[in-house]
Amino acid sequence: MLWLKAFHIVFVVTWFAGLFYLPRLFVYHATATDPAGIERFKVMERRLLAIMTIGGVLAAIFGISMIALSPAFLAIGWLRLKLVLVAALVGYHVWCGSLVRTFRADRNRHSERWYRLFNEAPSLLLIAIVVLAVVKPF
Ligand code: HEM
Repeated sequence: MLWLKAFHIVFVVTWFAGLFYLPRLFVYHATATDPAGIERFKVMERRLLAIMTIGGVLAAIFGISMIALSPAFLAIGWLRLKLVLVAALVGYHVWCGSLVRTFRADRNRHSERWYRLFNEAPSLLLIAIVVLAVVKPF
């Protein structure tokens, strides 16, 4: 169980590196005007999305393995709420994927400021999920 938890946390960190950095790339990409720079952002975004997807899938596999080993987890309130927040995080990840495709087609319509706000969501979810997982308040 502890090995599963250790690797769960390793891949959560990998996933979050992308969830923090990809929207940052969107902030800079939204204001870029030179064609070479724009093409470079597209490559960076595509590669980062691939790496963070692998991180997210492995974090989920290790998390689900812990539940499979000890199904009683599913009866605990904080874990249920955590899974709801994780579902929101997966939705954010999918949204990032669709924004990567929009940028790739040169069809971005959001401002730099919009992406700065968009960039805040994973921080809030990270704080809430880690507090639930560590403090286990209910
Ligand atoms: C499908 C997604 C996920 C599942 C099924 C899952 C499930 C679990 C389970 C069963 C544990 C063991 C809890 C215990 O031993 O008390 C755990 C621990 C933990 N999870 Fe997740 N988790 C998921 C995603 C996440 C995410 C996205 C984060 C961070 C934002 C996260 C952060 C943590 C932390 C920090 C711990 C260690 C808590 C501790 O023992 O102190 N998990 N997770």
